[in-house]
Amino acid sequence: MENTIVNSWNEWDPLKHVIVGRADGSMVQAPELAVQRDWPNHGFPLNTYGELPKEMEIKANEQIDNFIKILELRGIRVDRPTPINFNQTVETPDWKQDSMVGCMPPRDVLLTIGNEILEATMSYRSRWHEYLCYRPLLEKYFKEDPNFRWEAAPKPRLDDHSYKKDFMETWNALNKEERIERAIKADWILTEAEPLFDAASITRFGKDIFMEHSTVTNLAGLNWLKRHFPNHRVHKALMVDETEWPVHMDATWVPLRPGLVLANRVRPPIEKSMIDLYEKNDWEIIQCAKPAHDKPAILSHCSEWLSMNCIVLDTKTICVNADETAQMEQLYKLGFEVIPIDFYDVSAFGGGLHCVTADVYREGTCEDYFPKQIEGF
Ligand code: NVA
Repeated sequence: MENTIVNSWNEWDPLKHVIVGRADGSMVQAPELAVQRDWPNHGFPLNTYGELPKEMEIKANEQIDNFIKILELRGIRVDRPTPINFNQTVETPDWKQDSMVGCMPPRDVLLTIGNEILEATMSYRSRWHEYLCYRPLLEKYFKEDPNFRWEAAPKPRLDDHSYKKDFMETWNALNKEERIERAIKADWILTEAEPLFDAASITRFGKDIFMEHSTVTNLAGLNWLKRHFPNHRVHKALMVDETEWPVHMDATWVPLRPGLVLANRVRPPIEKSMIDLYEKNDWEIIQCAKPAHDKPAILSHCSEWLSMNCIVLDTKTICVNADETAQMEQLYKLGFEVIPIDFYDVSAFGGGLHCVTADVYREGTCEDYFPKQIEGF
């Protein structure tokens, strides 16, 4: 048996063991209430779906494999999920969905807090079954680490009550000002019928956890997480971008080391209390560099802000997409050893270097980095 320890409290302590996803069999998912892809120029107009082209998958997997070699050379243990056939209809008693998505981004599904790995509810029907890809690993860790707490948030119904009726039509009819107003209220497609969240809506700072109220995470999800981690302070983050729907926090608000957070320059926190909390505790918030690309990669549902989707190996070492020279330079000037990783071709499979990983073990303990709290936040 391997000597497995599940333990990770934040995004920057020395990384020793990580899950890295796979591009295999990933899909442009079939349309569902929560999401409809529409990429007519690249073979997937509205209401169509299917596997991403094989040549793209091969390139993405090559880049992922090279990234893994770099991690392993640094003594980091890497485990991989077991893909299933994502190109199949899945169902529950409430609904049928014509395809799944893939297992490139374990970060979206698995949340590690201390000795616990929590499977998120997810909020797309196409992602309801994704946890199955990680079960072989979680079962193994459960056997190998007697202290591993294996948890799963309540499996959601995701029936029609979980989505606001006619959200898309209403949204499409709004003008820019109305959209911003709605975004500020986080009035997105999810209702509050049941707790819903993706694990990547959460960023970990030891005792403090920030969870973004977004298109994939509702307030019931936030409340569920608060009750589930009563020894933590779970804060609601609201970040608004005029052009994008908020999906996950790891291209928006990225902690680099204690006292330093990288902020997306077009997605500022709406609530002043969030900034106040950081300032009161002497954290520096720096604006990220400009991305190398001005639009998302082909067939990617992620934005060009994957430029800041970095993975911190320890407080002095960070992996950054090799295209992002300005971002690398900024981090280098901040004192990091920057490891450039070719990763652009992975974008279409669901994200960047942070998305493709999920922590199993970082050294360190749960620390309080925000001893001075803000009342009501
Ligand atoms: N969907 C967000 C987060 C990706 C990690 C974005 O594209 O910016």
